[in-house]
Amino acid sequence: MKIIIINGPNLNLLGKREPDVYGNQTFEDFFSQLQSRFKEVQLEYFQSNIEGELISKLHEVGFSYDGVVLNAAAYTHTSVGLGDAVKAIATPVVEVHISNTHKREEFRHVSYISPGAVGVILGFGLQSYVLAIQSLLQK
Ligand code: DQA
Repeated sequence: MKIIIINGPNLNLLGKREPDVYGNQTFEDFFSQLQSRFKEVQLEYFQSNIEGELISKLHEVGFSYDGVVLNAAAYTHTSVGLGDAVKAIATPVVEVHISNTHKREEFRHVSYISPGAVGVILGFGLQSYVLAIQSLLQK
């Protein structure tokens, strides 16, 4: 079972960035916890601040991996290209968000990712990623 977590812009700053919204833990630290928790899964992690790199990564993994956990961050609300890429690939994509985007500004209520995703998990902090992996394992 091969699953990749793909994080979009500014998520490289987790732990430092708006800790009241996103928490104090770095993603690298959280990722090692995920690896210990899901030993049966070949887990990979990719982060980019660049829209085209995120699209290329989806193309690269999207016909051979068993699942993608995608937090497209701000591109969620703006990127037709990323939304199209999610629809174009065969691998199931679970959309995740750390915060409950529906409790926040109105521009965060729109997602270009959701129409192509198998499901959406949001608002559970970093636990959203755990729930996304569990949902892929149960598929
Ligand atoms: C986010 C929510 C987005 O609105 C925001 O732009 C992010 C992070 C989240 O995980 O809560 O960068 O995707």
